[in-house]
Amino acid sequence: MTDRYAVIGNPIVQSKSPLIHSAFAQVTGQDIDYCKLLGPLGEFAATVDAFRSSGGRGMNVTAPFKLDAFAYATDLATSAQMAGAVNAMKFEGDKVYAENFDGVGLVRDVVHNLGCPLQGRRVLILGAGGATRGALLPLLAEQPAELVIVNRTVTKAQELAVLAQHHQTGQVPVTGLAYEAVQGVFDVVLNASSSSLTHELPPLPASVFAPGCLAYDLTYGKGLTPFLKLAQQAGVTQVADGVGMLAEQAAEAFAWWRGVRPDTSSVIAQLTVPLV
Ligand code: ATR
Repeated sequence: MTDRYAVIGNPIVQSKSPLIHSAFAQVTGQDIDYCKLLGPLGEFAATVDAFRSSGGRGMNVTAPFKLDAFAYATDLATSAQMAGAVNAMKFEGDKVYAENFDGVGLVRDVVHNLGCPLQGRRVLILGAGGATRGALLPLLAEQPAELVIVNRTVTKAQELAVLAQHHQTGQVPVTGLAYEAVQGVFDVVLNASSSSLTHELPPLPASVFAPGCLAYDLTYGKGLTPFLKLAQQAGVTQVADGVGMLAEQAAEAFAWWRGVRPDTSSVIAQLTVPLV
């Protein structure tokens, strides 16, 4: 029998998840049906209950329901607890297992797809919202030399630095700074702020990019964002957006549900928007 999955959001028309998971199902020979579910606002639990009752096996969760899913879950993985949000659920009887694969997807894209090891390197992450929060532990697990979080509202960066210091298993120094306080150069600069969604440039000094640096914007499909343009103008040759992260977090969810990890290269090629 065909197993049913869905992505729930509002709006949902923009979601690439059905395309991605259908492609994964095809290459791995898995018999699944994956659809878009427009969740009425305020009716998350009722909508998911109905999907489960009709045989649904799992769901991806997108805006604005990531916190509703956090509350709905019976078993929250550490990734979801750290991110404070859920982006994937698995239903087994009365149990609702919940994960957040965004951070691990980001790291996998950077390290494996883009060939940029993080171990021993100086990493700068822009923004102190949910995207940064979810990325912290997966980034720290790679044992960078240092992780600096920079944010307009410096207290939020400082709070996340304390959280990360507390939860990491290693000894990586983590600091939270204001943009004007950033010093030195970084091997990897990640824009996890939402600046690219509004086509704004974060107030980042162009001097932060080390020679050979990777500049990575976690948003995808926006072409050359103001952040990536700044990096290019500063001489950075390796720039990337979050299309690989999107595919990798989906592959993590697929593997969690189906026990087989799909190759992501053709999905990434299909969804890539040129960085111009
Ligand atoms: P998300 O869940 O996508 O991370 P969020 O929790 O709303 O979204 O967080 C957005 C982050 O982007 C915040 O850190 C915000 O900075 P402030 O905390 O100072 O508001 C950051 N951000 C948004 N627009 C920005 C811009 N134009 N320049 C720099 N940072 C920006």
